[in-house]
Amino acid sequence: MKLSWKVMFFLFYSTNHFCLAQDYDDDTVTQEQPILPKGLENCNGIFLSYNFISRTKEYPHVKNATAQAWAFKSTVTVMNTGTYVLPAWKMFIGFQNREILVSAGGAVLTTGQDFPSPVGNGTYLSGYPQTDLETSINTAGDLSQIQAKVELSGTQFGLMPNRIPMPKTIKLVNDGYKCPKPIHQQTSMYVCCVKDPKFKAKELKSKFLPRQKGDLSISYDVTQAYGNNYMAQVTIQNSNPLGRLDHWNLTWEWMRGEFIYSMKGAYVRDVDHGGCLYGLAGQYYKEMDFSQVLNCQKKPIIFDLPAEKANDTQLGKIPFCCKNGTVLPETMDGSKSKSVFQVQVFKIPPDLNRTAIYPPQKWKIEGVLNPDYKCGAPIRVDPTQTPDSNGLQATKYAIASWQIVCNISRPTQGKFKCCVTFSAYYNKSVIPCDTCACGCPNTAKCNPDKKAMLLPPEALLLPFENRSTKARAWAYINHFPLPKPLPCSDNCGVTINWHVVSDYTNGWAARITLFNWKRVDFEDWFTAVQLKKHASRGFEKLYSFNGTLLKKVNNTIFIQGLPGLNYLIGKMNGTNPKTDPDVPGKQQSVISFKKKPSQGIDIAKGDGFPSRVFFNGKECALPTRIPIGNGGNRRSVNFVLLFLFTIAGFLLIEFSFVS
Ligand SMILES: *[C@@H]1O[C@H](CO)[C@@H](O)[C@H](O)[C@H]1NC(C)=O
Ligand SMILES: *[C@@H]1O[C@H](CO)[C@@H](O)[C@H](O)[C@H]1NC(C)=O
Ligand SMILES: *[C@@H]1O[C@H](CO)[C@@H](O)[C@H](O)[C@H]1NC(C)=O
Ligand SMILES: *[C@@H]1O[C@H](CO)[C@@H](O)[C@H](O)[C@H]1NC(C)=O
Ligand SMILES: *[C@@H]1O[C@H](CO)[C@@H](O)[C@H](O)[C@H]1NC(C)=O
Ligand SMILES: *[C@@H]1O[C@H](CO)[C@@H](O)[C@H](O)[C@H]1NC(C)=O
Ligand SMILES: *[C@@H]1O[C@H](CO)[C@@H](O)[C@H](O)[C@H]1NC(C)=O
Ligand SMILES: *[C@@H]1O[C@H](CO)[C@@H](O)[C@H](O)[C@H]1NC(C)=O
Ligand SMILES: *[C@@H]1O[C@H](CO)[C@@H](O)[C@H](O)[C@H]1NC(C)=O
Ligand SMILES: *[C@@H]1O[C@H](CO)[C@@H](O)[C@H](O)[C@H]1NC(C)=O
Ligand SMILES: *[C@@H]1O[C@H](CO)[C@@H](O)[C@H](O)[C@H]1NC(C)=O
Ligand SMILES: *[C@@H]1O[C@H](CO)[C@@H](O)[C@H](O)[C@H]1NC(C)=O
Repeated sequence: MKLSWKVMFFLFYSTNHFCLAQDYDDDTVTQEQPILPKGLENCNGIFLSYNFISRTKEYPHVKNATAQAWAFKSTVTVMNTGTYVLPAWKMFIGFQNREILVSAGGAVLTTGQDFPSPVGNGTYLSGYPQTDLETSINTAGDLSQIQAKVELSGTQFGLMPNRIPMPKTIKLVNDGYKCPKPIHQQTSMYVCCVKDPKFKAKELKSKFLPRQKGDLSISYDVTQAYGNNYMAQVTIQNSNPLGRLDHWNLTWEWMRGEFIYSMKGAYVRDVDHGGCLYGLAGQYYKEMDFSQVLNCQKKPIIFDLPAEKANDTQLGKIPFCCKNGTVLPETMDGSKSKSVFQVQVFKIPPDLNRTAIYPPQKWKIEGVLNPDYKCGAPIRVDPTQTPDSNGLQATKYAIASWQIVCNISRPTQGKFKCCVTFSAYYNKSVIPCDTCACGCPNTAKCNPDKKAMLLPPEALLLPFENRSTKARAWAYINHFPLPKPLPCSDNCGVTINWHVVSDYTNGWAARITLFNWKRVDFEDWFTAVQLKKHASRGFEKLYSFNGTLLKKVNNTIFIQGLPGLNYLIGKMNGTNPKTDPDVPGKQQSVISFKKKPSQGIDIAKGDGFPSRVFFNGKECALPTRIPIGNGGNRRSVNFVLLFLFTIAGFLLIEFSFVS
């Protein structure tokens, strides 16, 4: 087989070094110099290449060529041939043959996913452990510092045996670089990405990247470093006005055999040192009493301490710790918008050097009924500054800091945890939550594909399993079709009813009711409602909740319980559990709007219904229909205003008549 150009490039380098000692031999050496790909030779920027190495048929062997799985191997190299250091390199590989990546030596998936990971639509890779690429100039052409090499292996489907499975494209995705179309060859492809002259880089004060904005920012700050261990402080900061965590669990993955010796401000779910005793750590730390070690798992699960431990000298005494896993939006309670803990980490060879610190990778954080956060890879940033603890006007710098940015991803069908029902004064039926909005684990006795059946309003007070009699009768009276079997439940833990109460010349009103179908209580709950066409500008008053029009998020009203009433209790047994169905926890209020600030809205045409609804930060599933009126009597007259307050009071009673 012919040598690949990279091997040649390396040879070229080594022969060059060699020839320094033998100047007189110079001519012969130059003659032997291999021809480098044009791209690399002329590249003043970042040179990326993808090389396919081999593939072999995997079991099972099938006749259908498009269904055959193949194991493939390839390498990717990222080389800095420019004059600027590239911190935290990040690239995109446009896979296209239903690839499943099984390993990537020298890199991690930027999205923090685990292997094996389906990457058939392309994937982002970040360097690990070599995150930064030095310049040739700074390192006298030291290839190990200017180049990162990634060895990929995985499975790929459906190409004829004689074809070579190449990705569609490769590119560098760091800010400030642009890449032309890569050049394809038989088994390789390469591209030279150059600095974008139009990109206005912020004046960098240090060699690290500036901190990124995101929905949740986690900071991993090394505060003390010793030969074989270090202390890190982890700060979880919520920066989205609708972000939130309750009873958070945080996990990461140690990549270099580290283990957690102790922790303050948080704790691990499993106190387990077995992994050390039988692993490399046990071989190296022969004298260590591992019964004192907190956790040796590769992927520890960390959780916040309850408030009682805040003053515990062993476990607590960390500012901003110990909130039982609650992280609220800043607008709700600034003192609860961040969570902090400390961890003491022990390292194993070859990292027994004070400065050999690698943060853990693949960060994941989740709460009980909260947004889905997707975290990126840790990026080295400027050291975090904190006021010095002795109270003098001095600043303390962390030894090294990494930032992990986690963004909220919108739930997809079946992945919701809450849903919304719509109703209006001009239509007797309630539009329930979509069938299977929050998933359908069991479809044996119900139909997951049928539209949810319209319901009489009182049916909303019943658990889904106890609605069928009412739903059947309602269908019978109104001549609605009756599917067999009946549609499945929405399976949501929380449902929110939005009822348009009135619509008159100058204003309109709606009633919002929260139902909790889980057996757990929601303390300090909040909900947020985004309305269409600036309807929220007319927001006037919420009667028994605290509502504010958000400034940072468009057309959104932030709703929370009034002080002392911010508890949404869990589902409870009926008065007589044998005969009465379960009773959900409920909270309700009327919300009134003026029409003048949001001209041109038509409530009955649908402008009175929200376009997005959130509960505790998690987006809720909205029904696809809205209630339709039967023509003439949509607009009630102005005197409805006079009735509004009476109605508000009355409705509160109406909804509680069952409990
Ligand atoms: C071959 O497999 C593909 C993918 O699994 C499938 O879509 C296709 O229908 C199969 N073709 C035949 C002829 O079975
Ligand atoms: C790729 O994208 C398509 C369309 O967006 C989606 O249906 C499919 O699930 C994606 N595949 C992977 C592996 O993400
Ligand atoms: C911890 O100590 C602070 C200050 O002394 C006090 O305000 C707080 O109530 C204490 N917390 C607990 C849980 O004992
Ligand atoms: C803390 O959270 C746990 C669940 O993670 C819960 O069982 C417990 O009641 C909470 N404690 C307080 C004081 O809220
Ligand atoms: C309502 O919420 C806002 C924002 O959180 C807060 O500033 C205000 O004090 C609250 N009002 C009442 C009456 O609780
Ligand atoms: C520690 O590691 C750094 C970088 O890896 C290296 O520059 C330094 O020389 C090492 N120090 C010792 C004492 O080995
Ligand atoms: C956190 O982890 C524990 C133990 O694995 C689990 O029981 C709990 O449900 C998790 N909580 C969340 C919010 O994921
Ligand atoms: C998170 O979102 C911000 C913009 O809100 C974006 O700049 C950043 O790149 C995103 N980060 C990740 C890891 O997706
Ligand atoms: C409500 O549904 C549950 C589950 O199907 C059933 O066990 C219970 O008897 C029903 N209650 C009533 C009052 O119908
Ligand atoms: C808010 O609305 C403005 C103008 O309509 C738009 O430019 C902006 O992108 C919107 N912001 C968000 C977060 O949707
Ligand atoms: C609710 O009812 C179930 C049986 O239906 C029983 O096991 C449970 O203890 C009851 N809970 C309460 C709080 O009464
Ligand atoms: C109520 O709204 C539903 C859904 O839009 C519609 O199917 C139904 O016909 C309406 N009922 C009346 C009486 O207009």
